[in-house]
Amino acid sequence: MKKLSVISFVLITVFVTVSCSDIKRTRGREYMPDMAYSRAYETYAPHERLQEQGVNYTALPVAGTIKRGEAFPFSIPKDKDGDSVNYVASRQVVNPLPALDSVQLKEAERIYLINCGICHGPKLDGNGPLYNNGNGPYSAAPKNLVGPEVTAMPEGQIFYSVTYGKGQMGPYGPQLSTSQRWRIVHYVKAKQQEAKSSGGTGGASGSGSDSTSTKNAASGATKATK
Ligand code: HEC
Repeated sequence: MKKLSVISFVLITVFVTVSCSDIKRTRGREYMPDMAYSRAYETYAPHERLQEQGVNYTALPVAGTIKRGEAFPFSIPKDKDGDSVNYVASRQVVNPLPALDSVQLKEAERIYLINCGICHGPKLDGNGPLYNNGNGPYSAAPKNLVGPEVTAMPEGQIFYSVTYGKGQMGPYGPQLSTSQRWRIVHYVKAKQQEAKSSGGTGGASGSGSDSTSTKNAASGATKATK
């Protein structure tokens, strides 16, 4: 018995001494590695291997289908450079969404403030923090969305510009879904209606320090009285 413990003591000491080395030559044995390597497809990871494995993944929705609850895609394509045929044609397109209720309008306002307010301003007067009366980092003056020009603009054409961009304004087609863009158009039209019915006073008192929008609000009022 004593012999056995001596032998096992020696063996264990030898084993421990041999095992201890600061040079790691091989990886340790992995037990149950299922959790270590994700089998899930990561967003933006290359997916060619999935095709090789027989998994049909194209990163695109099935052709000819529309996501549940989504509006039909905009049928008018983007104009080629220097052309404005489709921009003009977009005037005929009517907003496919029915008028928004107060909850939907609130949601449209939220999306507007996230995506558009930075340039067009929370009051839609074209004087958001990025422009700031020309003192901001953005060089081009964003359109006054409650001014006479955009008030007279048909909804389809606003949708066209928001979808494909206009001048220095980038396109919002890739960022916002079709129905989100149509909801924003409803929101802009509702705000124009508000600005019209409150006349010049609302706009002028709301933007006393801002010469641009005071001027625009004034011309808007002249138009409203006609
Ligand atoms: C980075 C700044 C910026 C953002 C963000 C922005 N715009 Fe604009 N927008 C502009 C500028 C600048 C113009 C004037 C473009 C021109 O006429 O050359 C403009 C023009 C417009 C016009 C007039 C288009 C026309 O056909 O004349 C509309 C309508 C409009 N924007 C709506 C929106 C809406 C809605 C959003 C949010 C989804 C938005 N914009 C986001 C800068 C911006």
